[in-house]
Amino acid sequence: MSLQTFVDRVRARLAELTGLPPEEVRLETPRDASLGDLAFPCFPLARSMRQAPPKIAADLAERLGDLPEVEGRAVGPYLNFTIDRGALARTVVGAVLEQGEAYGGSDEGAGKTIVIDLSSPNIAKPMSVGHLRSTVIGAALQRIFDALGYRTVGINHIGDWGSQFGKLVAAIDRWGDTVDLESDPIKALLALYVRYHEEEANDHSLEEEARAAFRELESGEEGEVRRTWRRITELSLREFDKLYERLNVRFDEVRGESFYEPYLDSTVERIQAAGVTKVSEGALVVDLTSLDPNMPPCLLRKSDGTTLYATRDLAAALHRWELYEFHRALYVVGGEQRLHFRQLKGVLHRMGLDWESRMEHVDFGMLRLPEGKMSTRKGRVVFLDDVLDRAAEEARRIIAEKNPDLADADAIAEQVGIGAVIFNDLKRERIKDVEFVWEEVLTFEGETGPYVQYTHARLASILRKAAAEGGVDEGAADLARLADAAPILARLGRFPDVLRSAGEHAEPSEITQYLLALCREVNSWYAEHRVLGVEAPLSAARLLLIRASKSVVANGLRLLGLAAPEEM
Ligand code: ARG
Repeated sequence: MSLQTFVDRVRARLAELTGLPPEEVRLETPRDASLGDLAFPCFPLARSMRQAPPKIAADLAERLGDLPEVEGRAVGPYLNFTIDRGALARTVVGAVLEQGEAYGGSDEGAGKTIVIDLSSPNIAKPMSVGHLRSTVIGAALQRIFDALGYRTVGINHIGDWGSQFGKLVAAIDRWGDTVDLESDPIKALLALYVRYHEEEANDHSLEEEARAAFRELESGEEGEVRRTWRRITELSLREFDKLYERLNVRFDEVRGESFYEPYLDSTVERIQAAGVTKVSEGALVVDLTSLDPNMPPCLLRKSDGTTLYATRDLAAALHRWELYEFHRALYVVGGEQRLHFRQLKGVLHRMGLDWESRMEHVDFGMLRLPEGKMSTRKGRVVFLDDVLDRAAEEARRIIAEKNPDLADADAIAEQVGIGAVIFNDLKRERIKDVEFVWEEVLTFEGETGPYVQYTHARLASILRKAAAEGGVDEGAADLARLADAAPILARLGRFPDVLRSAGEHAEPSEITQYLLALCREVNSWYAEHRVLGVEAPLSAARLLLIRASKSVVANGLRLLGLAAPEEM
């Protein structure tokens, strides 16, 4: 049994009374919890029934009859429903505690695969804040879909191909021995990259060397160039992996763009065979103006024969469809690539591949760090490792103040610091830009990761205290006495629906917002109610509420990629 049981019960009866199909009976949550747990707005019926909504509500209330454990009454144009307090508590607490870590999930995705393209940084460069957002959002989505029963495939589409690698190989040839590639590869490669761009202007042989190197790379020849490129790739991935480890992110496939090299010819041939290509100024393109008169053509092959980012993405899409026949394919990539993904889908659409509609660009806004805008070419970059280090340090400082005796403080500071960065990134709708303000990200009192983690630790400490005081017989709990916590119970009961919706919209912020609201409610309830030192049946019921709340907070944190510390 779950909260849904009551919703279904109400929905079925309203369908009977109104003649609407059950799926069209829209139930809302009343703004003011004292009005009830569910609300049925009668406005949409006014036209067909030719009556004022309040009158419809009053009539329906009269004809409602007996609904087990649910009471309905008209409030203005709404029909509001209140679930019997005991039944609500038994149902929700029961479901949360029985299902534990699985609570919130479902099997809606059984037999379906969702492919998630996430993180996808470019080698030889520091990972950017944009890639950080992609990693954090994409990994949260993957966990959400896992919980909803889908088979998920997380793919890191590493940028390891393109003419810039010719430049880098040329730079390594010339100045490789002036830097220390092994101990800090990304900084060393960045220095070479910057130097290349400084010297390129007055030294044209450099450009020629770069072009030759890339040509050799593209030819597939197993020579010096390919060896150097491979070394750059390995060094970069090693650095990225350190970050992934701290963020606790793993991929099912790490497939650089180079992986699709062997597929490019057949991909281009297939697009040509579909009859949608044309030659324009020596380049092979797909015209997309039939889809949108303002859309520029998609370039498949330049006049010098080299392929492009889009060509490789087309090969990747075809490959993924072949391999997974995905239910959805999500590309978690910043909003600046909107045109690219529209073109990608446009080409597939013109080829008559209707599964193109299953591909979604899960775009997001910019994350602005106080350090300002980055420019790799000029060497002005923010290293994400430094950001995470600083977050952990600040968390360590706050913990030292608040809880100087905490055991394992360093490990917890890392969890809190990293959690703060992740939560900040997932807090608002992903399409919005994120302002990163150190003081706000880490505070234990605001809308932050540390606040939610702190609430979790606080609930854990109440349970510890109860156990230390000899424990409580939870079997004796009188759950009907949780009436004053009904809004919390209703919210706990809605968690499965929040998860489903977050998946549908590919929007982890629905979970962050849910957690913030839940924590606020639980904290303010706890400020006004005693859990220990009241009569046993009440104390036991309240402890069960605390246990259930803690469990749901932990589930939410885990889905977002944050640790749920027992103490902090
Ligand atoms: N490496 C690209 C960049 O940093 C992002 C790749 C995103 N994924 C994709 N399939 N295009 O801009």
